[in-house]
Amino acid sequence: MELIKAESLCKSFGNHQVVKNVSFVIPQGEIFGFLGPNGAGKTTTLRLLNGLLFPDSGNIEINGSPLSSENISNVHKISGVVTDTAEFYDYLTGYENINFFGQLFGIDSENLKSRAEYLFNEFDIFNAKDKIVKSYSTGMKKRLKLMRAFLNEPKILYLDEPTSGLDPEGSKLVNEYILKQVSKENITVFLCTHQLKYAQDICSLYGFIDNGSMIAYGTFDELRNKVDDSLYLEIKGKNLDNSGSQFLKLKINNDNDASEIISTVIKNGGIIFEAKQIKIDLEQLYFKIRSLK
Ligand SMILES: Nc1ncnc2c1ncn2[C@@H]1O[C@H](COP(=O)(O)OP(=O)(O)OP(=O)(O)O)[C@@H](O)[C@H]1O
Ligand SMILES: [Mg+2]
Repeated sequence: MELIKAESLCKSFGNHQVVKNVSFVIPQGEIFGFLGPNGAGKTTTLRLLNGLLFPDSGNIEINGSPLSSENISNVHKISGVVTDTAEFYDYLTGYENINFFGQLFGIDSENLKSRAEYLFNEFDIFNAKDKIVKSYSTGMKKRLKLMRAFLNEPKILYLDEPTSGLDPEGSKLVNEYILKQVSKENITVFLCTHQLKYAQDICSLYGFIDNGSMIAYGTFDELRNKVDDSLYLEIKGKNLDNSGSQFLKLKINNDNDASEIISTVIKNGGIIFEAKQIKIDLEQLYFKIRSLK
């Protein structure tokens, strides 16, 4: 089932067209990485998808229904949003903030209490829940922001640069929390970022946007196959082939090829110490695709 469907979206501010004929679908449970440079149109697209802006033309379907001014509140009920702009009350505690926003989202007090306690635990900020937010580190604030987005048990999460301003360790941690919670609750994610290294760790589907236009869409392997088919399996061990090799590097096309080669080596008496696939990473793929357009 497609949770998000965008069809030929266009949006201009004055005479500046910032979203140009953008189309994609995001099936349920996918983490869609929407990647592009500053000013490419990522945040604008996110705001179109969650009804904060309306497109000049094109259609959006969320959870099977067309998005329109009449059903925006239904979309908000099933959405969680993390952006850089929505902040907290610095002099309220984490718990007081979450309680305030939970009530604002219309969650009844009993559910809110249990959901908040559960999420404070899941995001490892339970011990700080009674401290004022001003005393939180940047990483803790990010986690509090994320947990706020999970409060209403969303079906869709819109994340706009959720790791901005974090050091590599903090970014990795936040990504781990996102991945863990999203898979636990089978949430579909629309993630805008230009941090390609971290996107690769969590995204299952990609859209590249440049200057308002989608220049690529697909899974990592689909995109890789378009621009670069150099996928290799490297094996280290003993007696890996007839001549007793200790190292093999073979061109393969997919995971199946890898597992067949590994099985054959073992069947023929080879001993494997290490086997790994060598392929280009998301960053290399991204720049390759951008250079082609
Ligand atoms: N409300 C607005 N009014 C006028 N121009 C806008 C508005 N919002 C965005 N823009 C312009 O639209 C373009 C796309 O902006 P957008 O914020 O969508 O980019 P982005 O891909 O999210 O960039 P970043 O990576 O910097 O967050 C930019 O040129 C921006 O200046
Ligand atoms: Mg942005």
